[in-house]
Amino acid sequence: MNDKILVTGGSGYIGSHTTLALLQAGYDVVVLDNLSNSSAESLERLECICGIMPEFVKGDVRDRDLLDKIFTDHNIRAVLHFAGLKAVGESTQQPLDYYSNNVLGTVTLCQAMANANVLNLVFSSSATVYGDTTQMPLREDIPTSTPTNPYGRSKLMVEEILQDLAKSDPRWSIALLRYFNPVGAHQSGLIGEDPNGPPNNLLPYISQVAIGQLKQLSVFGSDYPTQDGTGVRDYIHVQDLAEGHLSALKAISLKPGINIWNLGTGIGYSVLEMIRAFELASGRTISYCVVDRRAGDIAECWASASKAENDLGWTAKRGLTEMVSDAWRWQEKNPNGYRR
Ligand code: NAD
Ligand code: UD1
Repeated sequence: MNDKILVTGGSGYIGSHTTLALLQAGYDVVVLDNLSNSSAESLERLECICGIMPEFVKGDVRDRDLLDKIFTDHNIRAVLHFAGLKAVGESTQQPLDYYSNNVLGTVTLCQAMANANVLNLVFSSSATVYGDTTQMPLREDIPTSTPTNPYGRSKLMVEEILQDLAKSDPRWSIALLRYFNPVGAHQSGLIGEDPNGPPNNLLPYISQVAIGQLKQLSVFGSDYPTQDGTGVRDYIHVQDLAEGHLSALKAISLKPGINIWNLGTGIGYSVLEMIRAFELASGRTISYCVVDRRAGDIAECWASASKAENDLGWTAKRGLTEMVSDAWRWQEKNPNGYRR
């Protein structure tokens, strides 16, 4: 039996791009996903791109019996853990679902991993754990602060649980990857982000305005202390993010304990800059109007990318034009996402 990587949430947006990168790098992959926010079509598209279909298990990361069976049936070497819920607004309405999927899901997974003696884990965290600090760029060693919503708090809780776990048993090797703002799609236009209902995030919203599915973008505030008054974020191409996971996976096999890395570009763009870049790439006009600030938003947020560069030899290679062009190609080729 070859060593395999278990990818939870592998049919979702970031998980599917990372599964592709793993398959292309020669790894064997088992995907576990309950399809609560994705379609197995994404995995079929991977086969179109690279000629290999990962093994797929439909199920829930909170199902301990199923996890035990996966670890018995496959020679799993490490786990990339993407499975979870991610909509900030929804998390304020359904907090228990968020704590159950994100926190209980991770605890159950780690219990099954410990039982199977699989002790290498890469976890999808978020820059949200830095809270509303104004110390830019955000370095991994600045103290975390409690996020303002259940989604963010679930990510911080899991980070703390995993730190406790690593302290309790030095054989664990764990990466906490703090993503900034993942955008874009694979350059084939075959896989990409497929939000369920109206998007909450900026780039999918712009894409759906460009394709004519949504009328107008609301720009949340133009009175922030930024270069043009709109919010500034560190957008990172999802393929760069996927490659960052491969680098982290290799690094933790030599680095036991907890390893925290930002995955960002180190460059911030404003909402208006994103709109202009998208208009240039798509040749479409993005209708927008400025409205009040969105509750809980911060003015600006970008990463210090140097720790990942020093420790992993990884940096984001794709710039803004590639991010918006690839997002547009995916949207144009798949106006209804994976629903044909
Ligand atoms: P996504 O919703 O596209 O992917 C998550 C996948 O997990 C989906 O396929 C969903 O069906 C699956 N899933 C959810 N709960 C599950 C469960 N209990 N058992 C099994 N499968 C389950 O989201 P994404 O954007 O690919 O995000 C992946 C991870 O990265 C999430 O943990 C998310 O919180 C984190 N993250 C995402 C962003 C972002 O902007 N996309 C930013 C920071 C962190
Ligand atoms: C949001 C979440 C964050 C999560 C991240 C990735 C909130 C408060 N924060 O971050 O917890 O980790 O997504 O999933 O929801 N914007 C508009 N109009 C829109 C949408 C966004 O002007 O319709 C602006 C926002 O004000 C912000 C920027 O675009 O300045 C990016 O927004 P978004 O894509 O939602 O990401 P974040 O707010 O960074």
